[in-house]
Amino acid sequence: MKKHKILIIGAGGQLGSELTQGLWKLYGKENVIATDIKDPQGILSQGNFEILDVLKQKNLFDFIKKNEITQIYHLAAVLSATGEKNPKFAWHLNMDGLIHVLDAAVEYKLDRVYWPSSIAAFGPTTPKQDTPQDTIMDPTTIYGISKQAGERWCEWYHRKMGVDVRSLRYPGLIGYKTKPGGGTTDYAVDIYFKAITDKKFECFLQPDTYLPMMYMDDAVKATLDLMEAPAEKVKIRSSYNISSMSFSPAEIAEEIKKRIPDFTISYQPDFRQAIADSWPKSIDDSAARKDWGWNHQFGLEEMTEEILKNLPALLAQEA
Ligand code: SER
Repeated sequence: MKKHKILIIGAGGQLGSELTQGLWKLYGKENVIATDIKDPQGILSQGNFEILDVLKQKNLFDFIKKNEITQIYHLAAVLSATGEKNPKFAWHLNMDGLIHVLDAAVEYKLDRVYWPSSIAAFGPTTPKQDTPQDTIMDPTTIYGISKQAGERWCEWYHRKMGVDVRSLRYPGLIGYKTKPGGGTTDYAVDIYFKAITDKKFECFLQPDTYLPMMYMDDAVKATLDLMEAPAEKVKIRSSYNISSMSFSPAEIAEEIKKRIPDFTISYQPDFRQAIADSWPKSIDDSAARKDWGWNHQFGLEEMTEEILKNLPALLAQEA
């Protein structure tokens, strides 16, 4: 069997730290190198970890060569809300980082590459309900523009250069093991933390703002399922729609109240409301289900149950 040596770029982020643990289980800790531009926090320091900046192309290439890397998960990116505050840097990191990785895949004949896209690649004139795989895409944020352009680059590198690059358009990802990093959907992470610590939460979106969301365990499963699928099953080389649930701030608050009856929510919409309003409310992911057998496990109720069961102990440890 071919030996895999896996590099994760941006491993310190919300998705990265959980995906790293998924990859440890699948390939063994010794075959996975987690990297980030910042020192490792928490569990990441229990495996191979190195500092690596994807924007320094020579360092990246030298690293891949020295460590005989065969697969890359490239997760380093500036998210939607932060990107609007520093658009030029968001473009630089999100685009040049991806192109460095795709060029490395050609140069070192990498087995495969993973890169995440997002629902942010859609825009205000995209059909909002059951957004199809192929449809109008007119992203309004720099993050979304970089994701749409990135999808085209992935498709191009696959078609022209034979790179086995695979991608998912993630909805809002919700986990409780790391704090979120500047996304519009991240209210749905913060709300659980505040429900436990303060019993109240001020939401930056209106109560009826529906967005597609996914629990972290499902996101990790989707990513690994896609990367494990035989190449001929991966028919879409831009990025697959992927979905598990959609809810509004009012609905998640209700779900929390069932378990924390004195929890209250108030609403103070800010610039992130316009971002949320430009995105789909629900996603048609039938292509992912048909091509490589995607199937989700968590809905709003199961997710809330799991987070409120585990988060208090985690917060107590940190205190
Ligand atoms: N979670 C991301 C954001 O809100 C969307 O991909 O920016």
